[in-house]
Amino acid sequence: MYTVSIITLSDKGYEGKREDLSGPYIENYLKQNSSFSVQSYVILPDDKEMLKEQLMDLCDNQKIHLILTTGGTGFSHRDITPEATLEVIDRHVPGIPEAMRWYSLQITPRAMLSRAASGIRNNTLIINLPGSPKAVGEILEYILPSIEHGLDILNAHASECARK
Ligand code: MTE
Repeated sequence: MYTVSIITLSDKGYEGKREDLSGPYIENYLKQNSSFSVQSYVILPDDKEMLKEQLMDLCDNQKIHLILTTGGTGFSHRDITPEATLEVIDRHVPGIPEAMRWYSLQITPRAMLSRAASGIRNNTLIINLPGSPKAVGEILEYILPSIEHGLDILNAHASECARK
């Protein structure tokens, strides 16, 4: 069973001025639609150093299999989630954000505004999701089955791809 940590990036959420809907949405979605086990859920402000520290702790010390971030992928000057992610990963996984945007563009042209990134640090896969529960639901449904296969390979539980 793979472990997951959820990180919501939101200044207002962190300050308690706005209820975070996306983090709990991800948690519920995973509980209902996957065998992933959610280990932690935190809300952080849009602060690059705080996010990098949290990501490194989850990867290096807690050895979480999958980290899903939500929010902070857009054009606001405070949106730093992709930059923090790219600064901590060892290997890029461009196919995941490419697939997310390709799929999402069929739903809304605004999907082109998400700068979400994805990559691997040690044995942990990090994926940035946009900030709205609507976007999160649309994207998780599409990517989750392939993510599980990617984690099987990363963790050496599968050595070859049964093509789908
Ligand atoms: N992707 C999907 N599937 N559905 C959506 O509604 N919204 C977009 C985009 N990706 C959207 C989506 C919008 S409006 C923005 S501004 C960007 O994600 C960035 O969102 P963020 O800043 O909350 O991370």
